[in-house]
Amino acid sequence: MSVLLTNIGELVTNDPAHGGSGPAGGGTMPGGRETVADGIGLVPDAAVVVEDGRIAWTGPAASAPAADDVVDLEGRCVLPGFVDSHSHTVFAGDRAAEFAARMTGEPYTGGGIATTVAATRAASEDELRARGRALVREMLAQGTTTVEIKSGYGQDVATEARTLRIARELTPETTYLGAHTVPAEYAADRAGYVDLVTGPMLAACAPHARWVDVFCEPAAPTAFDEDEARAVLRAGLRAGLGARVHGNQLSAGPGVQLAVEVGAASVDHCTYLTDADVAALADSWSPARPLGSAPGASAPGAGYGTVATLLPAVEFSTRSSYPDARRLLAAGVPVALATDCNPGSGYSSSMPFVVALALREMRMSPAEAVWSATAGGALALRRDDVGHLGVGARADLTVLDAPSHTYLAYRPGVPLVHQVWKDGARP
Ligand code: NIG
Ligand code: FE
Repeated sequence: MSVLLTNIGELVTNDPAHGGSGPAGGGTMPGGRETVADGIGLVPDAAVVVEDGRIAWTGPAASAPAADDVVDLEGRCVLPGFVDSHSHTVFAGDRAAEFAARMTGEPYTGGGIATTVAATRAASEDELRARGRALVREMLAQGTTTVEIKSGYGQDVATEARTLRIARELTPETTYLGAHTVPAEYAADRAGYVDLVTGPMLAACAPHARWVDVFCEPAAPTAFDEDEARAVLRAGLRAGLGARVHGNQLSAGPGVQLAVEVGAASVDHCTYLTDADVAALADSWSPARPLGSAPGASAPGAGYGTVATLLPAVEFSTRSSYPDARRLLAAGVPVALATDCNPGSGYSSSMPFVVALALREMRMSPAEAVWSATAGGALALRRDDVGHLGVGARADLTVLDAPSHTYLAYRPGVPLVHQVWKDGARP
């Protein structure tokens, strides 16, 4: 069964066949590829053919092949479904009071994570599942077709494993974050907690996880220092997981360099960076390889560098300065954008909101932000089947009730997502 989506006013493909090798605006993307002006593979007056859940054809509507069914999109913009490569969407409770206090001057220190840990431990499996499902549905309605979900609000073996089991029902991109913070009962025995995280907790969680993550932030008393974080990541790698890092959120700490050292797919936050951090990220992509051509997409293996994932909804919700996206782009570091949806540092599930912040607060161009929210997220998850609409990609599409991708930021806060397709169907 094939479907022709036609009368698309503007199609964003991120497909090199249409000039979609990454936006040229900020500098040379890894691989030093020549890019056309937009770099996101725009096709005006376009059509897409979807067959068996995959993209079978894209190009000008006037030359589209016939299909079993036809959908007229009446001039709307179509882009790849957003790839939200960083979220914490399985938890209980809320921290609205903490947010309100921050808006009138309290700083964010990560200390409130303990509140969510207590609520999550006390919640039933059904409650956690219902909450997670609702948030993923909320994301889908806003155009997110691939989402990564972390544990990290359990911080004991049973609750971490339960969180990941539920997350696995919602997405294949699950991340073991037992090392989110040191729970109160281990405050006097940090080494004991690292032993738990790298031992029995890892053994219980690894079967449900693709990735291991750690909150590496010496500036936060309950987060992990460089040596502790290295131990956590190395144990995860030995268990067959790929590495990702929460780093450089509150200070220019060791997170970025550690992420590069262990070959992490992504280091997330990157709010405070030194020149050496930016250089390490850029060097991780040498020898340069063309984006999207790296093989072994399903295995979090070697051959890729470390993506800088920026989470500007966190700076919005913690009233902090935004990361310097332009500095990373100028150095040729691939940048992903994600929500970090969580009850503490930023409770937005909206990739359109993140794109709008990226333009307004981080001076990214519309093309750069859309690339980073789609292809960039895919690269941060080492996936080559999502984040673009090349032939063979998953038919994950977001249709905007707008004529171009610029409207995502031009009309902030407006529900512009008209319809969403996942694996070739409307869920
Ligand atoms: O990515 N930085 C650490 N972890 C989360 C926040 C978690 C929370 O405050 O509940 C983050 O910002
Ligand atoms: Fe996070």
